[in-house]
Amino acid sequence: MNPRNVAVVGATGLVGRKMLETLEKRDFPIRTIKLLASERSRGKTLPFRGEQLPVEVLTETSFKGVEIALFSAGGGTSKKFAPCAAKDGCVVVDNSSAWRMDPEVPLVVPEVNPHEIKKHKGIIANPNCSTIQMVVVLKPLHDRARITRVVVSTYQAVSGAGNKALDELYKQIQDVLQGKEPTCEVFPHPIAFNCIPQIPQSDAFQSNGYTTEEMKMVNETKKIMGDDSIRMTATTVRVPVHTGHSESVNIETVEKLTAAEAREILRKAPGVVVMDDPSKQQYPLAIHAAGKGETFVGRIREDISHPRALDMWIVADNLLKGAALNAVQIAELL
Ligand code: A2P
Repeated sequence: MNPRNVAVVGATGLVGRKMLETLEKRDFPIRTIKLLASERSRGKTLPFRGEQLPVEVLTETSFKGVEIALFSAGGGTSKKFAPCAAKDGCVVVDNSSAWRMDPEVPLVVPEVNPHEIKKHKGIIANPNCSTIQMVVVLKPLHDRARITRVVVSTYQAVSGAGNKALDELYKQIQDVLQGKEPTCEVFPHPIAFNCIPQIPQSDAFQSNGYTTEEMKMVNETKKIMGDDSIRMTATTVRVPVHTGHSESVNIETVEKLTAAEAREILRKAPGVVVMDDPSKQQYPLAIHAAGKGETFVGRIREDISHPRALDMWIVADNLLKGAALNAVQIAELL
């Protein structure tokens, strides 16, 4: 592959930094790299391939000569600046939700629907973190047994809400341990020693009672799997974990799949690691998945309440496979 001129938008953020780390780790062929962020980051530098590179302030003209731009600076920034980049001939891989459900924009998980990439018109969307790890596991099972319904509950890490959210978790843990009342600025309720069934933190609820995160999982799963007929319901929950989203997933299928057959299919699935030995108390854990690129699945068992359904536990690093790594994999496909 020829070296490319690359930009990372939101380079100072948690996901932006992981994007830089991932580009470095995977030896992505780069001719030039531009690190972009807001006015707040003027004068900052970030390490990349042994050098300290300056962070530039994002403007509409930042993309002249850039071939691939990885965006992770929030939906508003993507809505405004991704079209500017595309107009300048740059291909945007966007981690925000701004473009995901646009019919003109491919929504891609490289292990699931890599062929969609060819349809891009300058913008490719990176799916929601909880959706990515789930479809990596569900697609091979869908191909074999056709999934008709999915019921998912998520246990999502605090790093998914950004740097300030992690600071709030640590501060609240200290406050509680010192007998003080925890204060909340990022989350609507204390996240230390607690679970919050609301993602995102503000304007979360829709008129149907679901949160926007839950509806993202429902809508994006259908788009990525290329099957609108899959019925799905989700409950998304923030838990006081640093990094690594965990999910309890129940699927109903047309063809009966035994737990052993599902394990066999998933052992051969790209990007998936089966970790499933109850006799050794072995199953995926967020603390083990953090820092790794694979999606881990375990606790695979036949649902005792249904003749053709399976339960499983899916875990992945929300900043890597759920965001930065998936974006870099898309850039590699490009
Ligand atoms: P900055 O650090 O300059 O605020 P996180 O979600 O981890 O907090 O990261 C958000 C990222 O998005 C940061 O890199 C942040 O830059 C960037 N960002 C937020 N708003 C803008 C904006 N209007 N223009 C450019 N970058 C932005």
